[in-house]
Amino acid sequence: MNEPLRIAVLASHGGSNLQALIDACAAGQIDGRIVLVVSNNRKAFALERARNHHIDTLVISESGFPGAAAYAAELLRQLQMRGTQLICLAGYMKMIPQQIIAAYRNKIINIHPALLPKYGGPGMYGIHVHEAVLAAGEAETGVTIHVVDEVYDNGRILAQRRVPVLPGDTPQVLQERVLASEHELYPETVARIAAGQIRLE
Ligand code: GRF
Repeated sequence: MNEPLRIAVLASHGGSNLQALIDACAAGQIDGRIVLVVSNNRKAFALERARNHHIDTLVISESGFPGAAAYAAELLRQLQMRGTQLICLAGYMKMIPQQIIAAYRNKIINIHPALLPKYGGPGMYGIHVHEAVLAAGEAETGVTIHVVDEVYDNGRILAQRRVPVLPGDTPQVLQERVLASEHELYPETVARIAAGQIRLE
């Protein structure tokens, strides 16, 4: 039997997707263990969610280091010393340092609240995504899980789920509907990675 997949989650805010991953590991849906939760924001509720489940946390940002390379080296050290095998971004608002993308090539995944390649790229985060979807008069939107590479919202798409846009939707209402779908698709996709059904090569 394989050891459970060792997962680090990077989150900047509420961490509802982190919670979905924690719950799926606890329930055995994911054959994995969250070994570290990283945030750039010490007030992120994601950190509290991690502590509630006795998961190691790390608050780290570039401003605390003499330069970008020192910051990246420390983040990498923290990931590697826990044997991290998969990095899940879940509402992480900082760029991932190049050194870490290189060290974890094809092992970093992100969740995006739209059907990429539509509504991705710089500035397309949070409520802005849903505002843009509504402004364009789309009949549907969705969720994308993709591999992280050097280009924002660009890497190989691993899974997508469609979500309808309904008459009268506000950006907030649409965001909630998409988020509910995120909470299903992220654990399902990580479970498939942990089971070897999706290969990250
Ligand atoms: C989600 O909509 C996710 O798709 C995006 O950031 C949001 C994070 O929400 N990348 P939460 O912190 O997981 O609640």
